[in-house]
Amino acid sequence: TMRRESATDISTTLSTDTFELANICWDDLGFGLVETDYMYLMKCSSDGTFSNGELVQFGNIELSPSSGVLNYGQGLFEGLKAYRKKDGSILMFRPEENALRMRMGAERMCMPAPTVDQFVEAVKLTVLKNKRWVPPAGKGSLYIRPLLMGSGAVLGLAPAPEYTFLIYVSPVGNYFKEGLAPINLVVENEFHRATPGGTGGVKTIGNYASVLKAQSAAKAKGYSDVLYLDSSHKKYLEEVSSCNVFIVKDRKITTPGIKGTILPGITRKSIIDVARKQGFQVEERLIPVEELLEADEVFCTGTAVVVSPVGSVTYLGKRVTYGDNGVGVVSQQLYSSLTSLQMGLMEDTMGWTVAL
Ligand code: COI
Repeated sequence: TMRRESATDISTTLSTDTFELANICWDDLGFGLVETDYMYLMKCSSDGTFSNGELVQFGNIELSPSSGVLNYGQGLFEGLKAYRKKDGSILMFRPEENALRMRMGAERMCMPAPTVDQFVEAVKLTVLKNKRWVPPAGKGSLYIRPLLMGSGAVLGLAPAPEYTFLIYVSPVGNYFKEGLAPINLVVENEFHRATPGGTGGVKTIGNYASVLKAQSAAKAKGYSDVLYLDSSHKKYLEEVSSCNVFIVKDRKITTPGIKGTILPGITRKSIIDVARKQGFQVEERLIPVEELLEADEVFCTGTAVVVSPVGSVTYLGKRVTYGDNGVGVVSQQLYSSLTSLQMGLMEDTMGWTVAL
């Protein structure tokens, strides 16, 4: 049976918890699930409001075989990270941005969503209750995965009658097996990630299942991941399966503009702001694939991938390399700026970090 504690009980006892790290090897973290102690659960009542969230022991959940999420994919997810500073304190990065994005996605998917305050509070409580799983400074981060799903039963196609908001967490290291080394991408010429009018611009679970086939084929050929082109013209860059893409040419930074088919990444937006603040010119616009092949540097951004340099891109059998197998200077500079802000190594002049 599950041990349940109400969220309010927990927030009053958290400060007195003695700090102790979980007993795992912190040097081997990749991006895989490490089960932690607690998860957060909150249900929505029939009037569309969420209440009575609670932290319960991490474990399987019960769902109707006929639930909206299992049958028709009525589900959204989010991803954010918490880092431990050297002094043991914990920093989260822009959780209210994830809350807002979940609310936008929920509108598109006909789901009610937690308020920004409910979301941020729930994330804080979940991280604090699992704080022994936040890796030591420099060893990775705690990845926080909020889910919103149609948990009520349906049979005909319709919005589910009941919704569940859930948060679980897992300590993670680097996303790609390459670690921090440049990744090798292949431009996908058959499949597309998103279509105009579709759900590419929201973080619906279906966007991720639909890229598995192209991603698996690319991995089987030795590539790290797939870079998608727009489905109307097969010409303009969109994004990678799990991250946004940027190109650098003559120190000018460019990324595809948000126009419905591109996931509005929080790391993407943060990198744009950091780069502009450092004096770079940044453009958001359509990028023909030819510009990718002529770029000085290419990098990807995402919560999971952070800033990942791209070492090569293959398009229609032609392979173009960047940075002589090293990390480009602009990519390196932006990676360092963003991560030192997220990890609390640099003063947060943007006001993006939330201390726990
Ligand atoms: C993230 O970067 O947090 C994502 O949601 C991408 C996911 C495929 C790991």
